[in-house]
Amino acid sequence: MAVKVVELLVTAADGAYIDLTAGSGGHLRVTAETLEPSARLYGIDKDPQAVARTRTNLSDCPQLKEIVQASYSDLIAVAGRLEDKAFDGILLDLGLSSVQLDDAGRGFSFRYDGPLDMRYDPQSGARSAADLVNTLDVGELAETIREFGEEKLAKRLARAIVRERQEKMIRTTFDLASIVTATIPPPHQTKSLARVFQAFRIAVNRELDALTGVLPEALSLLKVGGRLVVISYHSLEDRIVKRFFQREAKGCICPPRYPVCICGRVPQMKILTRRVVVADAAERESNPRSRSARLRVAEKIR
Ligand SMILES: C[S@@+](CC[C@H](N)C(=O)[O-])C[C@H]1O[C@@H](n2cnc3c(N)ncnc32)[C@H](O)[C@@H]1O
Repeated sequence: MAVKVVELLVTAADGAYIDLTAGSGGHLRVTAETLEPSARLYGIDKDPQAVARTRTNLSDCPQLKEIVQASYSDLIAVAGRLEDKAFDGILLDLGLSSVQLDDAGRGFSFRYDGPLDMRYDPQSGARSAADLVNTLDVGELAETIREFGEEKLAKRLARAIVRERQEKMIRTTFDLASIVTATIPPPHQTKSLARVFQAFRIAVNRELDALTGVLPEALSLLKVGGRLVVISYHSLEDRIVKRFFQREAKGCICPPRYPVCICGRVPQMKILTRRVVVADAAERESNPRSRSARLRVAEKIR
């Protein structure tokens, strides 16, 4: 999918591009390979380890200007300090990387035992997953699990968490996983584990607020003809992206009952992916994470 992503992202071989979720620099690398040496590439990642990895992985890349450790929630401020102020392409590859998922010490996975952390930036001072699990009240726990994990048995799980923490603090991924497996019957356990861990990860990192906030900011930093490419991994993210693109492609936000437009808003974007793009069969086979990837692309038109 990386090649497809870059084909859709790049419109000018000597342009400026920014990857707001640099990860290990995989997309930046493929992008660099299609660009002329005079092009400029930038990356942002919230995770200090990802930033260090990308800087190393792309140290031989002539177009690379800067990799910044920051949240894309601070995009406008970060972009204000870069050499380029407007971009031909902006990429968001949402969520977490497989490196983060497979690192037990980060606490993202129910498959490995480790501290229940889940912060993309562990030095940020933000509350960890263990903080939330041990302090939210039963209603807040249920709401988190239902809204961010789309788990039907949220209330039952929330009650089980509260019962367990009255006995002892929930400190590790396996502490949380064992509450889920003790509460949910076997055929549904793995799905529920994934949903509960997704829910706390989204809550810890305020992922949906961050995504909602960054989309209009990214649009404002695109040149006319520039493209915004977003890869999401679950329906909550994809819905936010889809609705943003639809709103910006429509322009007018007047209620349908108004006979004429009074808002004066005109379309800002053209959607290039009428239907969401998914990974092909070969990639789905070789890379299980790609099975949930949803790619949407829109171009700035004014
Ligand atoms: C799916 S990975 C990106 C992988 C990358 N495209 C590559 O090719 O290596 C998502 C990355 O987004 C980062 N991330 C998540 N939320 C972020 C935020 N609010 N601001 C900046 N980076 C964020 C994560 O730390 C992670 O490294």
